Amino acid sequence: MARITQDIEEAIAALKDNLPVAVPTETVYGLAANALNDDAVKSVFEAKQRPADHPLIVHIGKRNDLYNWAEDVPQQAKQLIEVFWPGPLTLVLPKKSAVSTLITGGLDTVAVRMPNHPILSELLSKIDFALVAPSANAFTHISPTCAGHVVRSLNDRIPLVLDGGQCTVGIESTIVAFNGDKPIILRHGAISIEEITSVIGEVEVTTAPTKELRAPGMHHVHYAPRTICYRVDQLHSTDLPFNKKIGIITLLPQVDIYPNASYRALSDKGDLKQAARHLYQFLHELDQLELDMIIIERVENKNQGKALNDRINRASQPYPFNHQEK
Ligand code: TXA
Ligand code: MG
Repeated sequence: MARITQDIEEAIAALKDNLPVAVPTETVYGLAANALNDDAVKSVFEAKQRPADHPLIVHIGKRNDLYNWAEDVPQQAKQLIEVFWPGPLTLVLPKKSAVSTLITGGLDTVAVRMPNHPILSELLSKIDFALVAPSANAFTHISPTCAGHVVRSLNDRIPLVLDGGQCTVGIESTIVAFNGDKPIILRHGAISIEEITSVIGEVEVTTAPTKELRAPGMHHVHYAPRTICYRVDQLHSTDLPFNKKIGIITLLPQVDIYPNASYRALSDKGDLKQAARHLYQFLHELDQLELDMIIIERVENKNQGKALNDRINRASQPYPFNHQEK
């Protein structure tokens, strides 16, 4: 059974014993382990039931620690670090030869980020190793944004969760790869493409899997709740069944016309950052209500809306009972 603790020293002791420990980050909870110990790294794959060829992100406590992991840090990557670290930005860079291929899933690149969470930063400042940390959910489950979500997904598979409260960002980091001629966005995330291009100019976007660029976040169905989940473009032009128990997630508050529905508004004023903070939380909440279905309305596809729609798409199928989706 996973124990929830607020004691950083207890978490450090377990990490030094090469055990996996769930830790808070600003994006989602991560399942952390000593990145310098192969057994510790393996324990993360085992606990998550994650295939071995899906690489992990290395979490560092200081910007300069990047040079322990990356062989080469191009100028544009440095510019992004200047602006966004610590924060929800992951860089994929050519790896140093000593970096374990267990972490990189056999690739010759490594993903690194410097998280921005007071408790995790304190923890990282007290240890002399970096942490691998995939999201602290079983493979294909929704990412956790509080300690309770971690326990729901990984309860008997990990010993300890360090409780750092509710994640303030709520969706995963944006991943930018620097291993070719041009920077490539591999995963939409908390930092929008617009914010990235305002610092380094044009980038490519490749969020579908290719042979060279693997990412489990690119799987078609990922982050999915157990309740069947449908997406719609416009709730008001969708005919929902009156006789079913439905969960409805929209960006803005709705007039509740369906008597059996549980409504959740991602943001009272349509703020996309606030919406990102709530999406996984609401999916977790509604998933526990024994509903017949969850309906999610997609948001406008700009700024953080791209990451939100990406996660909505992965959690759901198109609503099959009318044909409003373009
Ligand atoms: O916000 C986050 O990034 C969270 C928190 C815990 O830090 N972590 C997270 O980890 O989302 P995970 O394992 O759920 O997703 C890591 C993503 C995967 O899509 C993985 O394929 C990609 O990073 N990745 C890791 N190393 C890579 C590499 N060398 N090349 C391409 N993609 C890589
Ligand atoms: Mg994940």
